[in-house]
Amino acid sequence: MRRSGRDQSNGFTIFAGSANPDLAAAITRELGVPLGACAIDRFPDGEVAVQLLESVRRKEVFLVQPTAPPVNDHLIELLALADACRRAAAARITAIVPYFGYARADKRIGRREPITGRLVADLLEAVGIAHLVTVDLHTPQIEGFFHAPVDSLTAVPTLCRALRERLPHDLVVVSPDAGRVRLAAHYAQCLGAPVIVLHKRRESGTQTAVTHVVGNVANRACLIVDDMISTGGTVAASVTALLAAGARPEIIVAATHGLLLPGARDQLDHPAVREVVVTDTVRVAEQDWPHLRVVSIAPLIAGALERFLADGSLGDLY
Ligand code: R5P
Repeated sequence: MRRSGRDQSNGFTIFAGSANPDLAAAITRELGVPLGACAIDRFPDGEVAVQLLESVRRKEVFLVQPTAPPVNDHLIELLALADACRRAAAARITAIVPYFGYARADKRIGRREPITGRLVADLLEAVGIAHLVTVDLHTPQIEGFFHAPVDSLTAVPTLCRALRERLPHDLVVVSPDAGRVRLAAHYAQCLGAPVIVLHKRRESGTQTAVTHVVGNVANRACLIVDDMISTGGTVAASVTALLAAGARPEIIVAATHGLLLPGARDQLDHPAVREVVVTDTVRVAEQDWPHLRVVSIAPLIAGALERFLADGSLGDLY
């Protein structure tokens, strides 16, 4: 794959890996700058081949690459791009990783397990990434895996603006597990709705079961919120539990990262689910699904980059 682009004279360049070139293009459009030129390919044996097609000497470089599926390929591509920038004497490398893969591997649950999230942080720093920008990290403590500064932006205000247009009355915001209570509270604050919490037990990588509904959902419409929809198992189990607890069959789902792995659409295709709203942190393949709405976070990321380039604060970003 060969990207177009040209040298930029204003001291910074934005390159896109192959994980989400549309998002990178949307960010550069917001900023009114061209995308940096680079070639990203695969050798016949599957190894990643990367080349920068313009000089980055003493430039600030931004690499846009969510580490979405195929996670390992996209991660290696990001590492290779950063290594290329470092060896070409870039002044500073910032990785914009809107979806940070392996974030769920942030602790050891059993013996003799790795903490792969930490390993990824070490790898990113080893290739000279001096600043990480991400969106709705699965857990905030991942920031502590890095010595470099981490800016974890949130898509909640962006999603709430999109949701507000068509929310049903008597709505409750639903956290699908204890880990999402803070996220749900943020939505609830933005939308002026109460929060209820589900207790989830994960039975396998694809199967989850809801054991308790904490709060009253009788005759209420529900907004289920999550950081990501992967297999759709969590949402499907939540929908079943909410309906069994007396919720109105008016359910909306909002998540920052719509990984939507094969089979997720079937999990979410329930008559009570009116709409699924996600952002474009990862490239969404299910464009032909009428219930799915994708909201762009390019303006949010572009706003953050403008502030970084002006050495400004992110305090007024939202
Ligand atoms: C779990 O802690 C996460 O916040 C998500 O609920 C989960 O990863 C979603 O995965 P799936 O769609 O496969 O249930």
